[in-house]
Amino acid sequence: MNGRQLDGRVAVVTGGSRGIGLGIAKAYREAGAHVVIASRKAEGLAAAREELLRIKGDGEIHEVVANVGEPEDAEACVAETMSSLGRLDVLVNNAATNPYMGDLLGLDLPRAEKTVRVNQYGMLAWTRYAWQAWMSEHGGAVVNIASVGGLIVDPHIGWYNATKAAMLHMTRQLAYELGPMARVNAIAPGLIKTELARAVWEPREPVLTARLPLRRLGTVEDVAHAAVFLASEASAWMTGQTLVLDGGATVLPIGVDA
Ligand SMILES: NC(=O)c1ccc[n+]([C@@H]2O[C@H](COP(=O)([O-])OP(=O)(O)OC[C@H]3O[C@@H](n4cnc5c(N)ncnc54)[C@H](OP(=O)(O)O)[C@@H]3O)[C@@H](O)[C@H]2O)c1
Repeated sequence: MNGRQLDGRVAVVTGGSRGIGLGIAKAYREAGAHVVIASRKAEGLAAAREELLRIKGDGEIHEVVANVGEPEDAEACVAETMSSLGRLDVLVNNAATNPYMGDLLGLDLPRAEKTVRVNQYGMLAWTRYAWQAWMSEHGGAVVNIASVGGLIVDPHIGWYNATKAAMLHMTRQLAYELGPMARVNAIAPGLIKTELARAVWEPREPVLTARLPLRRLGTVEDVAHAAVFLASEASAWMTGQTLVLDGGATVLPIGVDA
């Protein structure tokens, strides 16, 4: 992607050390932003920094060790961003967890709580601190990485999908509450070829792609391009909305395979 749509902006990307988050951080750097990547493991962040340095860009790169499920980590990351870069224009709530596979009735409380804490409350806590530190006075854009799982039923990851559906609703609610200063939008990706999803796509890629109207799975770049759009002035009159990026998976007619 070419252009300087985010020139001089400061963007915090949770889960920015690999996969979709790193792809977004790369695209933001290319678009002229300073990027702060946050995740739990310092070594992953250090490797991500090396990858980001290979992307042409003159913005600063900062890494912060943080667990999105710990509100005090959100507060500390935002404080560090403000003290080192002086502003926080874009927040990407990207990191998520899925500790349980199975039907809803088999779900235990600890894993149910962990999923809500990271995926749903995490989004709220990080948005709150970004709002308080910068966006309430200066404006900004929040980009929430949800999932098409928030729109459909799946036999194995129903609780994770329920938190993704909650993210889509919270995107609308926060758009209402934080306007006109901040815009809040979401991306709902279908299957994206990251390490997280490798066990799902690798063994069945030909079958999965044959069913899709666009005949391929998603890439981190597909999501990153949309994330640049939602962070930039190009989407200035858009808030509370969800961009579904799924190669057409959710427009398949019922009962038709390909
Ligand atoms: N891949 C897909 O097919 C797909 C489809 C739809 C939606 N999504 C969504 O896209 C987002 C990113 O997924 P991905 O496929 O890129 O995953 P990934 O490749 O596994 O990357 C996850 C990132 O999040 C970090 N992370 C995980 N748990 C964290 C926590 N509790 N606190 C802070 N950081 C944490 C990881 O680093 P550390 O391990 O160092 O913490 C890593 O940087 C998620 O919200 C996921 O639900 C993915």
